[in-house]
Amino acid sequence: MFFSARRSWLDALYERSYRMQMGEVHLPGLDLYMVNKPSLVRQVMDTQAEAFPKSNLLGEALKPLLGESIFTTSGEQWRKQRSMMDPAFAQARLNVAFPVMQAAVADMLKRLAVLPDGAEYDLEVEMTHVTADIIFRTIFSVPMEGADAKRIFHEFARFQAIAPRLLLPSIYNVRWLVWPWDVWRSRRAASAIRNLLSQLIRPRFDARLAGKPSETTDILESFLDAKDENTGQGFSFEELLDQVAMLFLAGHETSASALTWSAYLIANASDVQERMHSEVAMHLGGREPEMSDMRYLELVRNVFRETLRLFPPVGFMARQASSACPMHKKKIAQGSTVVVSPWLIQRHRDLWADPDVFNPDRYSDDASRESLKQAYLPFGMGPRVCMGAAFALQEATLILASLVREYRISALPGHEPQPVGRLTIRSANGVKLKLNRRKMSS
Ligand code: HEM
Repeated sequence: MFFSARRSWLDALYERSYRMQMGEVHLPGLDLYMVNKPSLVRQVMDTQAEAFPKSNLLGEALKPLLGESIFTTSGEQWRKQRSMMDPAFAQARLNVAFPVMQAAVADMLKRLAVLPDGAEYDLEVEMTHVTADIIFRTIFSVPMEGADAKRIFHEFARFQAIAPRLLLPSIYNVRWLVWPWDVWRSRRAASAIRNLLSQLIRPRFDARLAGKPSETTDILESFLDAKDENTGQGFSFEELLDQVAMLFLAGHETSASALTWSAYLIANASDVQERMHSEVAMHLGGREPEMSDMRYLELVRNVFRETLRLFPPVGFMARQASSACPMHKKKIAQGSTVVVSPWLIQRHRDLWADPDVFNPDRYSDDASRESLKQAYLPFGMGPRVCMGAAFALQEATLILASLVREYRISALPGHEPQPVGRLTIRSANGVKLKLNRRKMSS
């Protein structure tokens, strides 16, 4: 199984995986259950979330970079971190983030403007750049320019490329297959990133300790303000570094993956793309988009939501049964891994009409209401639901609207992106598309 799926865990799925309610895999040292049935998903992710803490599978590969960050912790440690980080994601913060997103998108358009008209381009590169820039500016209030910021970006790319090679053997419990060279390279990239982030955080951390006032309203400032409600203690420097590293990764890897797939989907659905262009042109005319415009760009938003259904960046979420329990006529032993996969559930044959069809209109259609309620969870569910969901929807709407306003995106004949499960769902051979500038009159 490991060898057939070593390129990607998606290759380990069968057609029946998309029809089953619950499946199981047993390997030496590994009992893994895959849960598709909505009531069981809710049990694991929400109503009995405490009995199913996060599994170590992801944490193991990410620890050198993220340390004890909120993404991998459980129990009391997670509860404390979540309550200290909540204010940074409060609704009001979206107002602060919007101008930051606008500035980064303007820079994206400048980078694209130097490409020759009709150029073939791997859009994954630009989507990774712009989303990394947005989260960087949101955390630190400075654009991702300059030698150090660029190095952080490149070391992250290196770390992301190696992580799946550590992750898969850990999922299949064959860690001895990991190349020591990969472990070394991953640790080296993680330590370079942490050193560079430390240099950015240190002066602000020390200034706060020295009681110097700050004018900034970025995420780092909010983390520096955060206090544990029981002890009144703030984050230590190490804890702060873990959370910032996690936020940088979670805040751009996921959005970049989904935006790239959005571009691919609309490149292959020119009717939808033209309707998006008309929606943006009609609503904005010649002016720059404002935050209040975002909610009127309904089709643009629905295209992104449909992309998150077909290509959910977080393809699976792994939990561990803290005690033995019965589930769907099976006996789950203590310590078993329980996996909930948005990839499977959101393409499930019994839960969706036309599950593999790209149809952004299903979000304004009553017939899909039940599927959306039962089987749509790209941002997770329950107490550990994504903290950046509103942020991601806002930035994606702005980026997609800006792209279709300026460009006609079309598919490249003969190039078929191959989805693979890495840290997020990416394409093994890139996502190469053609960008044609739209005439001003359109
Ligand atoms: C399209 C973009 C995104 C998707 C699909 C996504 C998806 C997810 C999912 C599925 C989880 C839950 C994982 C689990 O339960 O195991 C999660 C957690 C999280 N996400 Fe996102 N995410 C996105 C963007 C973002 C952004 C932009 C940020 C930050 C600005 C962010 C911050 C977080 C954090 C902090 C957590 C951990 C929450 C916790 O464990 O309490 N995410 N995300």
